[in-house]
Amino acid sequence: MKLALATLIALTLPAAAFAADGKAVYAARCAACHGATGQGSFGGPALKGVTGRKIAGLPGYAFSAGLKAKAGTWTAANLDAYLAAPAKFAPGTKMFAGASDAAERAALVAFLKTLK
Ligand code: HEC
Repeated sequence: MKLALATLIALTLPAAAFAADGKAVYAARCAACHGATGQGSFGGPALKGVTGRKIAGLPGYAFSAGLKAKAGTWTAANLDAYLAAPAKFAPGTKMFAGASDAAERAALVAFLKTLK
């Protein structure tokens, strides 16, 4: 029983720790502009529900022409590419912040999925 429980914890912990990490990175690097819970009250658009949303598609937010020119939706791959190099993904974007570390980006993308 003890062993089964330990196995269960070992199996469930990584996924949970991963999302928690993303939350910490978000708090440190993104929340200043996008709000603590993705509500977007500090200059950046709301990121609540951003995963799967049309790129630059949030109604009422004044997106740059650069981001509006991008077709498609925010898939995990698009989010990763934008965060890796915002101006390369969407030349002319207003966002200059990102995350150069691939593991940090993966954690961030996992966390963004939880913002609903
Ligand atoms: C200095 C302020 C600032 C910081 C810090 C910042 N952003 Fe942004 N973000 C913006 C602005 C401004 C836009 C709108 C960009 C545009 O219109 O070109 C944006 C746009 C976005 C979008 C596109 C939203 C949409 O609806 O199309 C995503 C996703 C995003 N940011 C994620 C992040 C993440 C994740 C972080 C943390 C690593 C972060 N941002 C840090 C200001 C910021």
